[in-house]
Amino acid sequence: MAEKDEIRKKVFELQKQINEWDHAYYDLDSPIVSDSVYDTEFNKLKKLEEQYASYFSYEEIKQSPTQRINASSLDIFSKVKHDKPMLSLNKAYSIEEIQKFINNIKKVAINFSFFVEPKIDGLSISVKYHDGKLIQAVTRGDGLVGEDVTENIRQIKSIPQVINYQKDLEVRGEVYLSIEDFEKLNEILEKENKAKLANPRNAAAGTLRQLNPAIVKERNLSAFLYYVVDAEEHNIHSMEEEFNFLNNLGFQVTKESKHLYTIDEIQEYIKNFKNEKQLLNYETDGIVIKLNEIQYYDKLGSTAKFPHSAIAFKYEPDTAITTLKNIFITVGRTGLVTYNALLEPVELSGSTVSFATLNNFKYIDDLNLNINDLIYVKKAGEIIPCVIGLASLKHKNPARFEKITTCPYCQSKLIDSDSSLEQFCPNEQCPEVKRRKLIHFVSKDAMDIVTLGEKNIELLLENGLINQITDIYKLKEYCSQLMQLERMGNKSVLKMLDAIEASRNQSLDRIIYALSIKLIGSKVAKLIASKVKEFSNFLSFDYLSLTQYHEIGEKIATSVHEWVNKEENIKLVNDLLALGLNLKYHEEKENDILNNQSFVITGTLSKSRSYFEELIVKNGGIVLSSVSSKTNFLLAGEDAGSKLSKANKLNIKILNEREFLEMLNN
Ligand code: IVH
Repeated sequence: MAEKDEIRKKVFELQKQINEWDHAYYDLDSPIVSDSVYDTEFNKLKKLEEQYASYFSYEEIKQSPTQRINASSLDIFSKVKHDKPMLSLNKAYSIEEIQKFINNIKKVAINFSFFVEPKIDGLSISVKYHDGKLIQAVTRGDGLVGEDVTENIRQIKSIPQVINYQKDLEVRGEVYLSIEDFEKLNEILEKENKAKLANPRNAAAGTLRQLNPAIVKERNLSAFLYYVVDAEEHNIHSMEEEFNFLNNLGFQVTKESKHLYTIDEIQEYIKNFKNEKQLLNYETDGIVIKLNEIQYYDKLGSTAKFPHSAIAFKYEPDTAITTLKNIFITVGRTGLVTYNALLEPVELSGSTVSFATLNNFKYIDDLNLNINDLIYVKKAGEIIPCVIGLASLKHKNPARFEKITTCPYCQSKLIDSDSSLEQFCPNEQCPEVKRRKLIHFVSKDAMDIVTLGEKNIELLLENGLINQITDIYKLKEYCSQLMQLERMGNKSVLKMLDAIEASRNQSLDRIIYALSIKLIGSKVAKLIASKVKEFSNFLSFDYLSLTQYHEIGEKIATSVHEWVNKEENIKLVNDLLALGLNLKYHEEKENDILNNQSFVITGTLSKSRSYFEELIVKNGGIVLSSVSSKTNFLLAGEDAGSKLSKANKLNIKILNEREFLEMLNN
């Protein structure tokens, strides 16, 4: 193919792809790719169109998604034309691009500075006031025409209904759902057996377009305001004044916004905000750098899409492109199937990645992935990288990937979960399920027989010394055989047998967790244990009655109920009891001094963290792993890091070790 044809083909492919993504994002509120993938492809298209402009007709470029603000909307709310278009922002990924943005400002301005703000990942809206009263609120829509969502906006506390300002006023900002409220919403949806929402932005979008304002109120949307239309008519001359103006009228504004003077200060802000943003209760997708002095705005002007007076800086995404070499499934201890990707090894955030998760079949099918496709892989907060989407349509494998229907370890037919989202290997005798169950049983948070770790479990399985959980407690009869095994010294065998015997004194909750019952994590196991009291009651307890506790939903209760009614499980529990494992619940609380107050521990203390955890629980307190508004105290040792700064931000009382001990003594 001639170069021209090839470029044209590539550009049309990209245009088509981005149009599809735009449709999913704007019309369906259901993005199919991450922002970073979208941005990479969008910028690629823009570059190609600019570089090879002569290969295209005017019409061909004009209809490209790069030339319009791509947000149409479904017809539910009435349409309103914006008095002033709601523009988007140009993006920068490096300090050089910010320098370019500043150089352009230098052409028209002499004395200028910057106002830098978090870029809130929500939905933009424009709100009008007349005689100090909120009269209309409209979404961005396609930038020119939006939807009237006034009644829904009235449910948002951070947008006042009445302001102490009589002139007609139009303000703009971003509606969002706080991370806390997002998590709450998903918990509710899960309890109601409804599909969970992918992220706070989607959740906010879905909520804002609810037809029933009562639902909007319940979900607790929030908003940050950052823009006054025709600011100079309100005697506002800089972004900083605008920020104060909005703040004084009772609008919520971002606390992190700053007035800065030099590119070095901007660079410093970018560096600091990278950490700071992790602690915020709302999601951001970068920062916005605005020229502070409004007097230059008109002169700077704008393109059809974005103004030259502001730019969005986006952090380098931790995303890489590579080939999907194979798709295979693994089976976990509850039989749950996970789809995985074998990748052509690729560098990703400082390490080489060859495997990534693909979650479940629906995930693969939705993204239309198949072996040999070029894909994007991303390492986010989690340790396991994830395939997030197709990177190129060019050499796409045209076949669709077929659902895997048999267990690769035991050849059983896999079964679908009720929601059809997940698959399970139903075979309790599946060697892989067994192996995973045994490894889990001895793990640290379960029975804590760590001298019998993954490697040893495998060794014992291979040599036929164990086959199921009960065999662990029979191992002492095979002491001499154990000592003959390769890699097992006499000393380590004795140590292992001691640890097995010691596990007989564990608290009941540990064995409940150790049994790999679906949906039973260590926290829920604790609660169950506190009711069941001892293992000999385990089979006869009425689990369905547990739904009265808010930690235990119907799904969890049913899961245990079903488990204890299965023949092989009844046998397992009875065999364990016959082996003398009638574990008791260790009543952990000794007094109520701490009265259910919650603690988070951080930094280095004089004794181990578990020592302090035990102390808190014994005295009637609760230990949490991360700082949130629900935390009452932070017990902070030396070198405390992000938890300390977050606690400070949330005004949580901070105790050092001495103060904490004094609290117990009082
Ligand atoms: S200023 C002329 N400030 O980002 C545009 N926008 O990608 C005025 N956004 O459409 C926008 N946080 O919806 C501005 N602090 C912030 C923002 C922000 C989020 C959104 C806004 C805009 C989009 C552009």
